[in-house]
Amino acid sequence: MFVSKFKSMKKLVVLSGAGISAESGISTFRDSGGLWNQYDISEVATFEAWTRNRALVLEFYNRRRRQLYEVEPNDGHRILVQLENYFDVQVVTQNVDDLHERAGSGKVLHLHGELKKVRSTIDDSLVYDWPHPDLNEGDICEQGSQLRPHIVWFGEAVPALEEAIPFFEEADICLVVGTSLNVYPAAGLIHYCKPGTPLYVVDPQEIAGIRSSGKVRFVQEKASTGLRVVLEEILASES
Ligand code: OAD
Repeated sequence: MFVSKFKSMKKLVVLSGAGISAESGISTFRDSGGLWNQYDISEVATFEAWTRNRALVLEFYNRRRRQLYEVEPNDGHRILVQLENYFDVQVVTQNVDDLHERAGSGKVLHLHGELKKVRSTIDDSLVYDWPHPDLNEGDICEQGSQLRPHIVWFGEAVPALEEAIPFFEEADICLVVGTSLNVYPAAGLIHYCKPGTPLYVVDPQEIAGIRSSGKVRFVQEKASTGLRVVLEEILASES
């Protein structure tokens, strides 16, 4: 008998990465042809790059923001929404797109920022929704300073980390999808789960240190098909 939606639901935390948006047409970072094969991280995704060549950094993120107007959530995003019928689902994403929200996920925490937000360069607390494709030089905050993308650049702190940790500590089930688990501190979050917490990992490529064993289930498929497998397996194991 499955636990009903109206009884206390088990907590399921999802750690997602670029791979879940790949089937929507957004490039990952480290696959062949990924963004970090096309661009030098130090030229576009660091604070030093911003001080050295602001126009290049703005254009890099403008291109990515414009793309959001051309893509749609895919079945992978939608299956995570379906899980909300059975579990208290918290998505923690490294993605800066808004596809989890547009698919209908109720609780989404962005670890690395959001393309559709910008913030002041003199006061980090001044964060604004940015419903425009482009952010340009001369776009300023209410205190008159240039606005920057609301993105965590390499070398910068990850302010959302503190909020994310308890989701993993308290999770009954952990699901990882579409991340190479290469970037810390995000990749380390799964280690906050209690020992014995079931861990499902979906990725078409092998992930270092992840293989099916004990409570770990590695589904080597793309998100849309792999998450379908996981949904069925989780429901079977909980019934
Ligand atoms: P990566 O590009 O490192 O990893 C993407 C993962 O998605 C890889 O393991 C792929 O095999 C997998 N993948 C590809 N297609 C997929 C599909 N259709 N379904 C499921 N998985 C698929 O991206 P992230 O791990 O998200 O940070 O990268 C982490 C961070 O590094 C990003 O948030 C970004 C980047 O630098 C910042 O920009 C701050």
